Amino acid sequence: MNMPKHDTIIILDYGSQYSRLIARRVREANVYCELYPWSASPEKIMGHEPKGFILSGGPNSVYDKDAPLLPKYVLESGLPVLGICYGMQLLCHSLGGKVAFSNRHEYGPAELDIDETRNDLFHGWISKEQSDLQIGSRDAGRVWMSHGDKVETLPPHFKAIAHTRNSPLAAASDEDRGLYMVQFHPEVAHTIQGRLIISNFVILICGCKADWTSEIFIKEEISELREKIGNERILLALSGGVDSSVVATLVHRAVGSQLTCLFVDHGLLRQGEAEQVLRTFQKEQGMQLVAINAVEEFMEALSGVLDPEEKRRIIGQLFIRIFEREAKKLGEIRLLAQGTIYPDVIESASRDQSVAHTIKTHHNVGGLPENMKFELIEPLRFLFKDEVRRVGESLQLPPEIIWRQPFPGPGLAIRCLGEITWDRLESLRAADAIFIDELAQADLLRHETQQAFAILLPVRSVGVMGDGRTYKEVIALRAVTTDDFMTADWARLPAELLARASRRIVNEVPGVNRVVFDITSKPPGTIEWE
Ligand code: XMP
Repeated sequence: MNMPKHDTIIILDYGSQYSRLIARRVREANVYCELYPWSASPEKIMGHEPKGFILSGGPNSVYDKDAPLLPKYVLESGLPVLGICYGMQLLCHSLGGKVAFSNRHEYGPAELDIDETRNDLFHGWISKEQSDLQIGSRDAGRVWMSHGDKVETLPPHFKAIAHTRNSPLAAASDEDRGLYMVQFHPEVAHTIQGRLIISNFVILICGCKADWTSEIFIKEEISELREKIGNERILLALSGGVDSSVVATLVHRAVGSQLTCLFVDHGLLRQGEAEQVLRTFQKEQGMQLVAINAVEEFMEALSGVLDPEEKRRIIGQLFIRIFEREAKKLGEIRLLAQGTIYPDVIESASRDQSVAHTIKTHHNVGGLPENMKFELIEPLRFLFKDEVRRVGESLQLPPEIIWRQPFPGPGLAIRCLGEITWDRLESLRAADAIFIDELAQADLLRHETQQAFAILLPVRSVGVMGDGRTYKEVIALRAVTTDDFMTADWARLPAELLARASRRIVNEVPGVNRVVFDITSKPPGTIEWE
């Protein structure tokens, strides 16, 4: 594992749905941080030589029988600590304050009033009175609450520093010991000045240098890759997605023609994707790229298959077989570069409490075969998706690749419901391209929707075109807003845009005479239809 050479904040995860957001906010302040389960080994955590700790929120009450604890080393380290929500209650409970048990949940916005404006945590805080002028919003003091229990009596030496109407102790600190606690969630976007609080904690209070930038990352990673790879050859499965594209570019910068990329075109990509991969990496960047046209093999294997799980299994297995076959042709290669990113690492860590070295094939389906014993090189292992994009920008990858939205490993197979035929795939691709084109023209693709796509339904309905009656299939359009893809809301797209997309799809796409828009959030729906 490459230990960071940067000032590091450790976030201990107590199970809040917002824990990852804390990490992202710290990184946005250009400070390196890592997120660990609260029960991670003290040696591992202290091995990072952290400059401070953040304790996340979580679903428990400190009075629960098996309530997660505050590990001893945290306070013993003497380092600054910020407890958020459950983290606040835990700090309070551990230091001799009193937490009031409650069955009632306070959820939603609240107005924060600062009692101690000179406290470092609120340095630069814009008050309600200033806010009209400075940020054009009356909501400057809005914070997001989501808690049951709350702190009733502060531990000795603590001082209340902010309150809301319902929470007289919305924030408190013992500045001498660098201990801070907030009842609300500074990490969520609904807390208007939440970024300021996080940045004040890590920079002013913990004293971290704000030196975690994509340029520095690239410089360090390239020299590290050179050291790790030496004179060996290295293989990479390129999918055209942002992660594998950024890895390919980084490794190529580091070791040039020692890198060979394998690109398997299974015919389930979006419109123009395969061509773009070849253009960007083979022609423009001059990489050694072996492109395998496996469209027929995949179409044959999927013929007549209706069940989505079966589709995934077939695609996963065939991908592996082809990858193995083609990799063998390239001779002995011991190293494999992968686009594993930090959320994959956190997920496997919280599953088995140890940062497992999981294999994520670029197609995310099944993993590479056991008997291919590669040593993995994963340069993006510690980056969030938005950081990967920033690195991609610094590496001057084309915006179409950097801003490409997440795409499932099994590709259009799980968006082409029912039987997969080449004609149906082509209709789906065309409809999807129209929808994406409309969104791009309205500049809604980067920030307003995190994932948008078309689905072809295996349902026919009656329509009328000209003088004739039609009986054709239905396209569903899906567009969601989300922070982490675990929960999502449907994007409130302008009606005019939907009207244009629908008109164009029905007119231009063969086999389709009706368009519907999916207005289901996740949960209870999922993002994909399958
Ligand atoms: P759901 O449909 O579960 O999707 O709400 C959440 C996110 O995961 C993506 N997804 C996949 N990604 N292989 C992948 O690499 C898959 O089999 C797969 N299935 C869903 C989905 O596009 C969304 O971003």
